[in-house]
Amino acid sequence: MEAVEGAPIRLGIAGGGIMGERIAEAAAALPGVDVRALADANADSRARLHERFGGAAFASWEELVASEEIDAVYIGLPHHLHAAAACAAAEAGLHILLDKPLCNTLEEGDRILAAVERAGVRLMVGFSHRFHVELATARRLLAAGELGDPVVAVDTIVDSAPGGPGWYWDAAAGGGVVQLQMHHSFDRLAWLLDSPIVRVQASIHERPVRGDAPVDVSAAVALTFANGAVGTSAASFVTGYDGDGIVELAIQGTHGHVRIETWQSIAVQTTRSAFDQRQRRDDWLGAEIAEFAAAIRERREPSVNGRDGHRALRVALAVRESARSGMAVDVAP
Ligand SMILES: NC(=O)c1ccc[n+]([C@@H]2O[C@H](COP(=O)([O-])OP(=O)(O)OC[C@H]3O[C@@H](n4cnc5c(N)ncnc54)[C@H](O)[C@@H]3O)[C@@H](O)[C@H]2O)c1
Repeated sequence: MEAVEGAPIRLGIAGGGIMGERIAEAAAALPGVDVRALADANADSRARLHERFGGAAFASWEELVASEEIDAVYIGLPHHLHAAAACAAAEAGLHILLDKPLCNTLEEGDRILAAVERAGVRLMVGFSHRFHVELATARRLLAAGELGDPVVAVDTIVDSAPGGPGWYWDAAAGGGVVQLQMHHSFDRLAWLLDSPIVRVQASIHERPVRGDAPVDVSAAVALTFANGAVGTSAASFVTGYDGDGIVELAIQGTHGHVRIETWQSIAVQTTRSAFDQRQRRDDWLGAEIAEFAAAIRERREPSVNGRDGHRALRVALAVRESARSGMAVDVAP
């Protein structure tokens, strides 16, 4: 549906869980965006969000997408529902902010991009790390050549979520650490180095977490970038304790290095300068939604688009293939 010129963008929330509620809160604080409707299959979540944000409340994403109440939709559903919801939203003419990962399979990814292209709507993928102030600073420094040519990137995402929803560790629903956490790493590294990941060699550790079926709880990947730089990405996600996440990244170029603790700090040393900055406040989610709204209003591609989501998905699929075969695998072009 085409938003009326100058009128607020009417946003719907498909999936009012952990992320849907945070997005609704950040969107409600933005001028020019109205949270008009939400959908959640869980009656308690639905009632809580309805009480906080008002608007229409539906029990399924299908009803929300068909409702004609909204111009744009945030999709924060379990991963196995991403493709169906995104394609239906595009067909209904809705602009889409789809949380990462794009989806689970290449066939789904192709289908989403084709539906969006056909409908002429905007698709943004929720790679929220790009909107953190310390990562945006690192990107500016790298793009300006302050670190010289990147030679190595070392990325770590170690997390725990004892109270996380069951589907996080259900492989059939698209759970597991590769889908939940590593897409952030694949996207932020390619973005920071301005160079796609072209080759991976991976190991994955699987074990049962909730129920009997094993799921990937940790993975370690050696990476090669198109520009020749190399790197590693390691991630884990467990439930047995409630710990602070460790989300750390180091990148070295020929003339300097940057060290980032995501959500916390950045430290830089180059030929010309050395500085440390600690973050005190950062509305990264507000920045993500503001970019989505601006892309709709300015009729342009968002800064993080469906092709970025598709690229991270192809890396994730190559990681699985490499872990299965024990061989290095080229990422599908
Ligand atoms: N960018 C980030 O930093 C970040 C952080 C956490 C999660 N995420 C992503 O956000 C998305 C949602 O994750 P979450 O942590 O909020 O999960 P969640 O389980 O808390 O939320 C999903 C919600 O979808 C609802 N739901 C399930 N089936 C439905 C249906 N058919 N119709 C309507 N609602 C339905 C569930 O009841 C639940 O409330 C995922 O893609 C996840 O990877 C991103």
